[in-house]
Amino acid sequence: MEYEEIVERVKRVVETPVRPIPEVVLQREKEEFYRKHARSLELFEEAKNYIPGGVEHNLATTKPFPLAMDRASGYRMWDVDGNEYVDYLLCGAPIILGHHYEPLDDEVVKVIQEKGPSTGLTSEFEILAARKICEHMPSVERVRFLQSGTEADMAALRIARAWTGRDKVVKVEGSYHGWYDIYVMNLHIPGTGGLNSKGIPAIAYEHLLEVKPNDFEGLERIFEEHGREIACMVLEPVGGESGVHPVHPEWNRRCRELCSEHGSLLIFDEVVTGFRLDMGGAQKYLGIDPDLTVLGKIIAHGYPSAGAVGGKAEIMDICGAGMGNKPYLGGTLAANPITCCACYHAIRLMEETDAVAKATAYADRLVAELNELFSTRPDLPFFLYNFGPIIHYVTTGFFAVDISGPQAMEIFRRKDVAEEYQMVASNRGLNSLAGTRMYTSMQHDDDALRRTVDAWEYILSLIPRS
Ligand SMILES: Cc1ncc(COP(=O)(O)O)c(C=O)c1O
Repeated sequence: MEYEEIVERVKRVVETPVRPIPEVVLQREKEEFYRKHARSLELFEEAKNYIPGGVEHNLATTKPFPLAMDRASGYRMWDVDGNEYVDYLLCGAPIILGHHYEPLDDEVVKVIQEKGPSTGLTSEFEILAARKICEHMPSVERVRFLQSGTEADMAALRIARAWTGRDKVVKVEGSYHGWYDIYVMNLHIPGTGGLNSKGIPAIAYEHLLEVKPNDFEGLERIFEEHGREIACMVLEPVGGESGVHPVHPEWNRRCRELCSEHGSLLIFDEVVTGFRLDMGGAQKYLGIDPDLTVLGKIIAHGYPSAGAVGGKAEIMDICGAGMGNKPYLGGTLAANPITCCACYHAIRLMEETDAVAKATAYADRLVAELNELFSTRPDLPFFLYNFGPIIHYVTTGFFAVDISGPQAMEIFRRKDVAEEYQMVASNRGLNSLAGTRMYTSMQHDDDALRRTVDAWEYILSLIPRS
């Protein structure tokens, strides 16, 4: 779907009154949820004694309570009560070959059994993994491994500042670049300001310059006023929250031009898009080379301790080896053999299986089928769009509410209703992200598609026609 149509349809969703499931029906669904997930509830109650809020994961659905998972295989996932799900969370994007993909797991198990998990020193896997990343990512000639997307975003900032000798950072409101101080402002939804900034001193934002998505004039003004002080601009190339806030087709190009004109570095955060949207990431998909690329969980296909910054040799080489007069980066477990083995073999297996093309073909089919289903209910403005194997479904549009306008308070009601749909989806065996997003893998098949469409048919049947 083209950008203009997405914007138009999101606007229609936000302008249409929200369509909740009637209270009596919802109550029945809630009872079913409690009945089906007794062990998850028990674990949640126990977790609250040791874990703040009883749940770690920001991606967990918490209403009515978070579900504890037991195992996963292919596109399927099972919770501790034995309920089966068609999984579209896929660990928040990195799973593309499918969960528990044996040819990959076998390689990692071999490392554990034959070599041990880590030594704190380099191994051949580090070089193999770095070479694979460089082979695929058009703008990447050198790679520095870290341990998470957040760390890689922090490192990219430090490298950009060291390279340019400047301090200021431009970022786009509503984007996510992990939880490092300067990035936690206007998080998830443009205009939310410091809503998530508890514990971060105001001084952390001294060098932050923010622009609303697609505000070309605002962006030009920022570069006009501060161009010589701007170290870098950081962005998610398909738009904030992996495209929840889609960008105008000319946006990335204009960002590239402005950075080049002012000697600032352009950083693409490809924690989700790298090796998912395309093996060469969004940069290949869009045909735009950033100066630095941030990678995260995606490079180890769900195995832990994954993150990396890549870029042109002349920039990245300032990181050098060892300690000294260079940007200081580190991580004892960074580039450990397990992560690097997983990275190398995951990329190799994705090449061999054409995993991205398969995951994309499935996403295209699912989007077409669900859009057709939604079109049978012209009283509902629901719709889906996708960037390859990254699908966004828009039902209540809570993320697009203009929170500086009179509708601001509606955001909570819209979020609640999206979560109610999500609870019913769970009862029907679907797992997705935040009530708005689905990632696909090469394992999703006709059966997964049928179960997904059936579940949505059921959800629609609970919303009275108007
Ligand atoms: C675009 C983007 N950047 C950075 C991060 C942070 O990565 P991590 O959770 O590994 O710290 C995420 C996490 O989902 C992300 O989606």
